[in-house]
Amino acid sequence: MISASGACRRGDPAVYFIKSCAIENIPVRTTMKLHVDSGGRRLDIDAPPGRHLSESLAEAGIRLDLRCGGNNRCGRCRVRLLSGRFAIAGKAYDADREGPREANACRLIPAGVEGRIEIPDSSLFRDGLLIETGFRCAPSGAASGPGESALAFDIGTTTVAAALVKDGAVLRTAGAPNAQSRFGDNVIDRIVAAGRSPETAAELRRVLVEETLNPLIAELAPASGSVRRIAVAANTVMSHIFCGLSPESIGVSPFRPLRLRFPAEPAANFGLAVDAETPVHVWPAISGSVGGDITGGIAVTGFGRVPDRLELLLDIGTNCEMILSDRGRKLAAAAAAGPAFEGGSSAVGCRARPGAVDHLAVSEAGYFRFHVIGGDLRRIDGICGSGLVDFLAGMRGAGLIDEFGRYNRARLGSLGRLEAGTPETGLLCRLSSQLAVSEADIEALLKAKAAIEAGVLALLGSVGRSPSELDALYLCGGFASALDLASARSTGLLPAVAADRIRICGNTSLAAAIQAAADPEILDQFESERPGFRDIPLNNLPEFEELYTRSLALN
Ligand code: FES
Repeated sequence: MISASGACRRGDPAVYFIKSCAIENIPVRTTMKLHVDSGGRRLDIDAPPGRHLSESLAEAGIRLDLRCGGNNRCGRCRVRLLSGRFAIAGKAYDADREGPREANACRLIPAGVEGRIEIPDSSLFRDGLLIETGFRCAPSGAASGPGESALAFDIGTTTVAAALVKDGAVLRTAGAPNAQSRFGDNVIDRIVAAGRSPETAAELRRVLVEETLNPLIAELAPASGSVRRIAVAANTVMSHIFCGLSPESIGVSPFRPLRLRFPAEPAANFGLAVDAETPVHVWPAISGSVGGDITGGIAVTGFGRVPDRLELLLDIGTNCEMILSDRGRKLAAAAAAGPAFEGGSSAVGCRARPGAVDHLAVSEAGYFRFHVIGGDLRRIDGICGSGLVDFLAGMRGAGLIDEFGRYNRARLGSLGRLEAGTPETGLLCRLSSQLAVSEADIEALLKAKAAIEAGVLALLGSVGRSPSELDALYLCGGFASALDLASARSTGLLPAVAADRIRICGNTSLAAAIQAAADPEILDQFESERPGFRDIPLNNLPEFEELYTRSLALN
């Protein structure tokens, strides 16, 4: 027997006391037989001692939505314990004695001989993310020669989009979830994972190359010998991991990356499944928070090229990158919006995928109308970012929430839409039999909105300008492309700019990778402009905090 201190004792050799998982005095059998109900099927798995249930389930082929990388934060990996003994975050729980309950599988260790669990559909990992491969800025150029082609990758934290380019034209596009997501759904979790050990850092890179990029190469370019060039655009953390560099310094003050430029290297150095000598080009970064996905976007949209204009480029994600061009000066900043608009931080939120409500309307009388991706109104999974922005705008417009996002209890109560929640969620508004939005959900959305709104106002204010002076607003990325502009402007998420000054650009990161794959000269051109960029840490601007507090309210 092994004690909690790790010392061996005499006794039943089949029983262990696990120290590493901080379970105090909970005897853990060598293996627990678990009966699992999941997705309409029933199967039996063996859960070895000392391992989190999420790992044992993954080994048995059941992938959970480990959105926070198994860090016990997102609550997406909930399972229902029906019988048997378990350790939940280090505390013993006996479902036979205490009754069924739910727990996060990433913090749950089977600790009995036999038990039964149920996995709700909402906890299962869902493939089929919508991967944005469209762009409205036309890349041009030519690949090396007749019959030769080039590959372009937009490596996002969540998804990877790819394109096969030939003679300057895009032949095919494809996309896949970034397989690194099992280490967490945001760049901070990836930085933390990379810092755990050299082995984990190497695993992050291997997972990206072998499980995400190489399958896309096989799909797009089965005759991989004809690929003459590869180009990549990615945020600074992804670029570092792809290039085998540690991203750790990006996560700690003063947040400086090891590199801003990534010289071309042969494909063999990355493990990419093409000819070993194929050159791989990576878009340069401006800072730790403004990476090659944004610099590429700047290059392919023509942003900031016209002198005497005030232009703003936004790429809204967990991080909202923003570039301001003011009479030749270029300022770069990033606002930490968090995952609220990407389906994180709430039970009702989900990513843009079939079954997600991407637009909704609220009538004065309190009725809801939904538009669902895929068109099947019977199978609604949640509301993705653009739908949540519509929700805020519609509820405020109908007077069903106040400026701080609190429900109008009298009106929603009389409509029969108000439900009691838990102390964590606050009141719930029921939109349909499948959807309910809590006041806590709204609070998370308002915080994300405030970070972006305050960031834009502070950046403009730093050069003595205001949103009404903007000559052009460039919106990059999938979320911005899906937004209803009226909803986004009425909530304050986007600055109040006339519609004819807004350019929806689509996936400019992929467009930039395509451009560099067709003609890497564009990277040198960008380098010649680089000295003009100044990185602005928003938190250091004296007015940012006050702007953030004000932006927490709706108009
Ligand atoms: S709480 Fe388990 S993966 Fe997030």
